[in-house]
Amino acid sequence: MSLYRFSQYPFRNGKQAQNRVVVPPMASKTADADGFVTDASRQHYQRLAEANAGIIFVEYSFVHQTGKGEANQMGASNDQQIAGLADLAAIIQKKGSLAGLQLVHAGGKTTTEITGTPLMAPSSIMVPVKDRPLEIPVSMTVEQIQEWVESFVQAAHRADKAGFDFVELHAAHGYGINQWLSPITNQRFDEYGVNIQGRSKLLFDIINRIKLEIPNILVAVRMPAQDHSEGGLEVHEMFWVVKQLENLGVDLIDVSSGIGGWRRQDGRTTEGYLVSDAALLKQSSSLPVIGVGGIETGKFIDEIICQRKVDFAAVGRAILKGPREWALVQMSS
Ligand SMILES: Cc1cc2nc3c(=O)[nH]c(=O)nc-3n(C[C@H](O)[C@H](O)[C@H](O)COP(=O)(O)O)c2cc1C
Repeated sequence: MSLYRFSQYPFRNGKQAQNRVVVPPMASKTADADGFVTDASRQHYQRLAEANAGIIFVEYSFVHQTGKGEANQMGASNDQQIAGLADLAAIIQKKGSLAGLQLVHAGGKTTTEITGTPLMAPSSIMVPVKDRPLEIPVSMTVEQIQEWVESFVQAAHRADKAGFDFVELHAAHGYGINQWLSPITNQRFDEYGVNIQGRSKLLFDIINRIKLEIPNILVAVRMPAQDHSEGGLEVHEMFWVVKQLENLGVDLIDVSSGIGGWRRQDGRTTEGYLVSDAALLKQSSSLPVIGVGGIETGKFIDEIICQRKVDFAAVGRAILKGPREWALVQMSS
């Protein structure tokens, strides 16, 4: 079998991924208490860059203090943070990888101790997570929704100023935008709820503004193909969402899990445990797709690209363990 993992992938604007391996966003907890990049963050991404991946996503970074998810989370919420983020983009690009920055608002999946303000979400419904009860958030007003959109757009401007090739909107794992998409957490009756058209309006509003104001930056969306929870997002709804994302000019979709978080669902034990979900969404548009979930070997990556299940494979923990070592073993022909 030919070695699909090594093939380049052309995006817009002359940007090209040097191969089909992606380092997915992974929180390093290296930022300082105000979300600024530290020397430990620089070292961390220097190490990850040794994987020589096609794309490396810098971890989830909060777009506004009200959406901060944990202490030592990276921030893209003010202009002073741009310089540190620019260091990370440069470290990644120096090794030939495209650099992405993942943007997030945690919505109701955080604590008031961290945000300092009441938790914001589409509806006053506790976000279901496996291991702990969360606080009940406050349902947002239309004015607050517009402020959210603005926070994402301003953070995308910062990613652009920092020199990132990609901005990735985090719409998975039960964080803010996932809460808007999911019928479990979005039970609104206004234009931002009711059906999948309404529930995805906020995501589309953010993308429309980014495309209008920062047309050059590549846009990725990390999203579930389904929530994998009773009463949650279903595949047929996400088929429709992907089609709209294609029409809006999104460049890449990164398919992970939904409202319950990123961890492996019970019963999914094989390498590539979420690749079948990525393959489902790949059918509904011509957008390139990243698959993820326990992927460890170059051989497996070749197989899933050859079978047209995905275009890219994200390798998280296997690369985190030893980026250089992983590349030496799995990326040598
Ligand atoms: C330490 C750690 C931190 C993570 N942080 C994020 C994050 O910031 N954003 C995100 O979308 N996913 C995050 N994830 C999920 C990973 O991107 C990936 O989807 C998950 O680890 C499954 O891939 P793997 O089996 O190759 O590790 C994190 C995972 C790990 C292990």
